[in-house]
Amino acid sequence: MTQAARTKIENLSTGKEGITITWRDGYLSHFHFIWLRHQCECEQCGSSLNGVRGLRLDLIPESPNPHDYSFDSDSLHLIWDGDRHVSTYGAKWLRDHCYSAQERALRKHQPVLWNKKIEVDPPTFIFSEVEDSPSRRLEMLEAICDYGFCKVEGAPGVAQEAVRLVQLVGAKRITHFGDFELSNKKVNNTSHDMATLTDKKSVNNVGDIRQALQPHCDETYRTSTIGITIFQVFEPSTEGGHSTLVDGFEAARRFRKDFPDEFERLVRTRLTGQRLDPKHAEGELPRWYRCTLPMIRVDEDQEVCGIRVNERQIAPIDLPYDQVVPTYRAIRNFLKIVYDPDLIISFPLKKRDGLIFNNQRVLHGRTAFKLEKPGRQVMTNSVDLEDFYSNLRILKSRLKPEDPVQTYNQGMVI
Ligand SMILES: [Fe+2]
Ligand SMILES: [Zn+2]
Repeated sequence: MTQAARTKIENLSTGKEGITITWRDGYLSHFHFIWLRHQCECEQCGSSLNGVRGLRLDLIPESPNPHDYSFDSDSLHLIWDGDRHVSTYGAKWLRDHCYSAQERALRKHQPVLWNKKIEVDPPTFIFSEVEDSPSRRLEMLEAICDYGFCKVEGAPGVAQEAVRLVQLVGAKRITHFGDFELSNKKVNNTSHDMATLTDKKSVNNVGDIRQALQPHCDETYRTSTIGITIFQVFEPSTEGGHSTLVDGFEAARRFRKDFPDEFERLVRTRLTGQRLDPKHAEGELPRWYRCTLPMIRVDEDQEVCGIRVNERQIAPIDLPYDQVVPTYRAIRNFLKIVYDPDLIISFPLKKRDGLIFNNQRVLHGRTAFKLEKPGRQVMTNSVDLEDFYSNLRILKSRLKPEDPVQTYNQGMVI
């Protein structure tokens, strides 16, 4: 069946509550009258797309009924009872917005889960190609959407140019860490004098220490946590300092299969992540963030849509007495899977390598590294999930205008 058959109206019938369209590919779509009336996008009614909608629900009947209708293969016209308002709908638009269970499932983006095997051939892009070619850039954004991460080779490799990679992903997010950071030390945007890691006596941020870090999500202490993280390597370690990644969705799938009751417990139990930052950088005020959310988020279809795991940031557990021990057991069993070598991929990051990942799905860590001069320099930036999706939607609507708008998972926010 061709794409055209999918969007051609073959027949139409009306019922008590709405209409049924028979499409040329044989599929049936049901639309309620109230839905159709509300979605009228004539000049008078306006559109939700630009937020300029003149139509108000309290000014139309609760159960609108058409007085008359007509259709051809490409459009439907309804004339409403009462004010005889005329609404016109494109056939493709209707099919792309059909809300049957099947069509909703088709529009829902499905992540591609992975384990250690992806290490031999991870999704990898060349910076200059992605920067020069919109279609290559779309492929990169789609890879981040599908796999939750990708590598980028040949990134600018200097602080002054780093924003070029960030902008390809989406609008740069600005946080309490400042505009951007280099190995968690602020650098002047125009300065060539870049900070290097030192073996600090007191550590406020684990990015400043050189021991191995178990896979984790960043900022589990914030409701507005990082969506997409972008690492850029300016100076690699000559020994150690490999990046590690784990697909949190695959870990959750295994956890659900092996420990279904404990999976449900972590979905419904909210845990607090916290972070006291006495003074992150000279001239900054102290901050104390706390955020209470589950470790695993499922959407309305009970599919995993967000992961929030950072063992270091779990605040004293504050739950009813009888739930404390079972919660510890569930966390322990989930972490065992998250840290399973069968799930962890590990790779050295070379000079000018970039690593982009969804912090609400993919956990990241690092192997220990040797202290040396010049020290390891990794810049980290982030983009909110909604800005990443916005960027993806815009690019996709230009390059693949025929594709229906996809439903992407919203991470920890559902
Ligand atoms: Fe981190
Ligand atoms: Zn209208």
